[in-house]
Amino acid sequence: RPALSMHAMDGLVLEEVPLNTIADALGTPTWVMSAGTLRARYQRLATAFRATGRPVSIHFAVKANDHLAVLRVLAAQGAGADVVSGGELQRALMAGIPAARIVFSGVGKTMPEMQAALRAGIAQINVESAEELELLSTVAQAEGLEAPVALRINPDVDAGTHAKITTGLATNKFGIPYNRAVDLYAHAATLPGIRPVGLAMHIGSQIVRMQPYRTAYARLADLVRAIRARGLHIEALDCGGGLGISYRDETEGAPEALAAAIHGELGGLGTRLAIEPGRWLAGPAGLLLSTVILRKRGYEGMPPFLVLDAAMNDLMRPSLYDAWHGIIPLSARDAVAPAEQVHVVGPVCESGDTFGHDRTLPHMDAGARLALLDCGAYGMVMSSTYNARPLAAQVMVDGGHWAVIRERQAITELWAADSIPPWVDETLL
Ligand code: LLP
Repeated sequence: RPALSMHAMDGLVLEEVPLNTIADALGTPTWVMSAGTLRARYQRLATAFRATGRPVSIHFAVKANDHLAVLRVLAAQGAGADVVSGGELQRALMAGIPAARIVFSGVGKTMPEMQAALRAGIAQINVESAEELELLSTVAQAEGLEAPVALRINPDVDAGTHAKITTGLATNKFGIPYNRAVDLYAHAATLPGIRPVGLAMHIGSQIVRMQPYRTAYARLADLVRAIRARGLHIEALDCGGGLGISYRDETEGAPEALAAAIHGELGGLGTRLAIEPGRWLAGPAGLLLSTVILRKRGYEGMPPFLVLDAAMNDLMRPSLYDAWHGIIPLSARDAVAPAEQVHVVGPVCESGDTFGHDRTLPHMDAGARLALLDCGAYGMVMSSTYNARPLAAQVMVDGGHWAVIRERQAITELWAADSIPPWVDETLL
């Protein structure tokens, strides 16, 4: 993590900003995104593909982090967007990503969402079923517009990742069954309002081995040849996202290896190529600052609990996927304290509100601050206000600068949209 360093005086520093400065000013829990890391990772990815002689369009998967400032930083690097809802489409447009660089994925787009996408004139709609294709044809005709469509194929390949984030198996809800793809493509070409331009796939997330990609892309290549053999036109391939990062001791998925897999399996087909990375770009660029509320003794012989002021409502990944996030102290003094085993938990009333069991950490007492690492993707976006906990503040650091990019939610906002029907009080009488 090149942007993070520990200094004797300042403690943990991200880019050039001491994280204690941010925590002093805003309190915790607070999310911090590093703009420099986002740019560096985007450039490494783009360079890896450029080196194959066949550049790809990089459509950032907005679901990983939909903050306007994050989208703007990536847009300035040349990124497009992969969106999965009308809300994400609007966010991408608001952030300044041109419609011509936006692709709409997702297994259940509503008619208003299709309408919005067509009116905005986005590059491509990834259709996931025959049923959706019919619906899109109807909407496009009503709008008097033509939808550029890629069919998302389910290649029936095991991505070798967590079951909840695997998407390319026959048993998953995603994509069109492989053996129906060519017929549906031919059918699409006959539908009014539909212009089939290509195929798409996405086999899952946090993938660190290249073999599943290779297998899936080889199947995609077979489909391209079969489609062309039917005399049909195909010009675009969307290779999905999913490249994994190193949360613990995994080897991070290498962009160069992904570029080689895509180039090797699909490069000779003469189509435009695109990818939809989310986690790989944004994950390592973000962290979550938290403070130890108290240190609680457990049963005799058991590790103590460090109860944090961050919880599962902020960072849901550990409770949802048993995900491992690195935890490090913010102060240099804490960082060199003798190590011990602890359970790191949040204050929410569920046992699943645990950030790490049996972690070896330097001794930290109440008031000590720490950072949960690799939270830039699927962190803030998955937060809730469970237990009436307001959404945490967000900060962006960039070189020596930092700025609040989202205020901590005010407690009163939690019930601002609630209303009590008048008869509730009447029945009390
Ligand atoms: N394209 C499509 C169609 C997707 O469904 C996804 C992610 C991506 C691209 C981006 O995948 P990435 O490059 O970020 O792996 N909340 C889970 C991850 C869910 C991923 C859903 N789809 C987590 O925290 O691990």
